[in-house]
Amino acid sequence: MLCLTEVTVPRTAGAPARPPGPPSLRTAVRDPYPLYRTLRTHHPLVYDEPFGAWLLSRHGDVRAALADPRLVPVAGHPAAPEAERPLDRALRGPAQAALTAAVERSAHVLARRLAARADADLVAEFCDWLPTATAVAALGLPYEETARVHSWCRAGLGRSEGGRRELGAFLRPLTARRRAHPGGDLLSVLCAARGDGGPLSDDTVTGLVGTLLGASGESTARALASFLANLLDHPRQLAVLRARPDLVPGAWAESLRRDPPQHIVLRRALAPVGVIPAGATVACLLGAAGRDPERFTDPDRYDAFRTDPGPLAHGTRPDALLAALTAEHGLRALLSALPGLRRAPGARQLPDDLVHRSPRTLRVRV
Ligand code: HEM
Repeated sequence: MLCLTEVTVPRTAGAPARPPGPPSLRTAVRDPYPLYRTLRTHHPLVYDEPFGAWLLSRHGDVRAALADPRLVPVAGHPAAPEAERPLDRALRGPAQAALTAAVERSAHVLARRLAARADADLVAEFCDWLPTATAVAALGLPYEETARVHSWCRAGLGRSEGGRRELGAFLRPLTARRRAHPGGDLLSVLCAARGDGGPLSDDTVTGLVGTLLGASGESTARALASFLANLLDHPRQLAVLRARPDLVPGAWAESLRRDPPQHIVLRRALAPVGVIPAGATVACLLGAAGRDPERFTDPDRYDAFRTDPGPLAHGTRPDALLAALTAEHGLRALLSALPGLRRAPGARQLPDDLVHRSPRTLRVRV
């Protein structure tokens, strides 16, 4: 349970006096880290009027809030958690082999395409494509439709009604075929899955595929971009990972700690929680919590070999298997197809979104 007597106490006895008035998240879109520091030290629990939510920034408080049953999800990825269980079950169970093969093959194809080039932008040409290509292959959708599906994903498939309708029309004949002649692909597994009231309807299957292609694909693409950026910024650590692939999962978890793709998870208070009134919105600042110096030594530093980076970036999601597979195989394919891979010199574009953060481009020499 969240202990609000603790969170309202400033952290250090000798800390400078509080700045006048609480700062707003809205003022820190380009570079939120100085504000995160101020919040953790002086305003561990504060109402941000322009943002319309109570802010929590310390690691212990964010972790406690995410586990507190009085604070319920407002919106993570768009579909309701109840409907997500069949997707979770499919990804962990019967579709896992199809998924692993799909991510391996897709990463290889995308990386080989870059091999003949002198330079590339890994965000636009690798990270953005890999989750879509993986999902298309794992679902058993026609390969030649990958570009069309990718353009729907870019247009915000997960968020728009129109996008879902188009996806539904595209999936209908494929779903009918799977219901009649199931195979080993993920779409067949979803068609065969059962919810509380029997087999899943076409609309439910479309919703799950939309989640996979839309918001979860976007989170994975963003997290992959940050992961590759962190490694390319630390070539010595990258060299160790080349020789020790068993260390890649830890390096991925560390990137999610330092640079989570989703900086803010919102919760709604069902009942009063300390000074937070019932009905209020609480913003759990994952980006601030992951860099809390009370929890992590030298928290701004990327250290692929940190022993306990923690699992906070996924909020309360129990597993992150698909994203981790994507990172592992994506990195492996790039390292094998592009042995000279390194950062290209030049200015970097800062992220321009506070909730979803990742490099906008990642220019490399191939
Ligand atoms: C690195 C990649 C990813 C990150 C960092 C990430 C992060 C998150 C976060 C922070 C939330 C909100 C959780 C909460 O409210 O407690 C969320 C929700 C969700 N994620 Fe992801 N996600 C990733 C990839 C994926 C993938 C690959 C899938 C599915 C295959 C997925 C499926 C979902 C679903 C269904 C929800 C909403 C349901 C729920 O809140 O339980 N995510 N994710």
